[in-house]
Amino acid sequence: MTDDLLARHRAVLPSWMPLYYAEPIELVSGSGRRVTDAQGRSYLDFFGGVLTNMIGYDIPEIREAVERQLATGIVHTSTLYLIRQQVELAEKIAERSGIPDARVFFTNSGTEANEAALLVATNHRRSHQILAVRNSYHGRSYAAMGVTGNRTWSASGLNPLQVAWLHSGDRVRGLLARLSADQQVDAAVEDLREVLATQTAGDVAALIAEPIQGVGGFVHPPDGLFAGWKKVLDEHGILFIADEVQTGWGRTGEHFWGYQAHGVTPDLLTFAKGVGNGFALAGVVGRAEVLQAVPAISFSTFGGNPISTAAGNAVLDYLTAHDLQANAARVGAILADGLRSAVGGLDCVAEVRGKGLMLGVEFVRPGGGEPDPALTNSVFEAAREGGLLTGKGGLYGNVLRMGPPLTLTEEEAREGLAILVDAIRAAAGVAA
Ligand SMILES: Cc1ncc(COP(=O)(O)O)c(C=O)c1O
Repeated sequence: MTDDLLARHRAVLPSWMPLYYAEPIELVSGSGRRVTDAQGRSYLDFFGGVLTNMIGYDIPEIREAVERQLATGIVHTSTLYLIRQQVELAEKIAERSGIPDARVFFTNSGTEANEAALLVATNHRRSHQILAVRNSYHGRSYAAMGVTGNRTWSASGLNPLQVAWLHSGDRVRGLLARLSADQQVDAAVEDLREVLATQTAGDVAALIAEPIQGVGGFVHPPDGLFAGWKKVLDEHGILFIADEVQTGWGRTGEHFWGYQAHGVTPDLLTFAKGVGNGFALAGVVGRAEVLQAVPAISFSTFGGNPISTAAGNAVLDYLTAHDLQANAARVGAILADGLRSAVGGLDCVAEVRGKGLMLGVEFVRPGGGEPDPALTNSVFEAAREGGLLTGKGGLYGNVLRMGPPLTLTEEEAREGLAILVDAIRAAAGVAA
């Protein structure tokens, strides 16, 4: 069955849209944190459709909210009419964003959210110069790809923006690796000053950055780095855009948004993925003065439609009622501590990193520290065979990524941890 579907997939879908696993799987049902494939095999899901099934599968509160909206007969009206759920969700997001006098614009994807943020930032500043971070991923449109600093995800050199690149927070390789956290912050700030002086015409519109780089393998800078950058940006009136597509909604455990680890407030914040728990919902929230810098009509046919915003409200209410941020901190610590103590000392493990329920393990060849994507893939396949779905990423494809639903229980964390540790030890050739 699956073989046939795979052949049909290959015959009709583009080759640049990758499938996971040597034997790709079709997920046909799900409940909580577990999914079942077409062969009847069940998996604990530590990737949640790329951090998107943030509450989990088949959550009654979300299903019922969507069913109530379906029962009205209205799936779509367009934003030419008032949409009650959209206004309610915008109120909640504006309030939670931490941005004063905030406005919210809804889109269907993270790419469009970043595109909108870049549009308003460049209009507001009357400049198409942008600062972006190496090893970033912001989406697949021309502008979003233009600020993406990862060769694997850059399909075109066409770019409507003029981009200058800052160093990432990579602690394993690159010019700033192996510095102490304070030294790294100082070096990154000095680098920003130098980039502004040497690679721009001065009137830069904005800096866009992910608090933890998603596709980039959960690389993140030391806490406080964004504050160091923001001080310099403020001297020039340059806006700061936080891409919270992966880091938002309490996933990092310690804060509701990733930017809050740095003691700054962004001018614009983009969100997507988890807020719809699978329904297409994304957007940008920002200071009114900036977000309203659109001197023409701009509108998204589906953005924030009645179904997706009904889901979004139910997701945020669930998240708040169950304090999932606290759960991410507690359960994430079990996973992080368990991984560090069981495999952190192996020669092939360069780093166990991340925050809350956003954790990565970077694999290298023992000795030289060369990236080891083959070993990463062996771990990834072995984890699936053991009944655990994870993700992969990193600039060199050598990082295993975990971003389970924020509802993950302690028992499930321990179960997944055991599978992961076995998979890593087996792939690394370490006796159990
Ligand atoms: C940080 C970040 N920004 C933007 C995007 C693009 O979002 P989408 O795939 O919904 O367009 C992604 C997707 O993975 C992401 O991780």
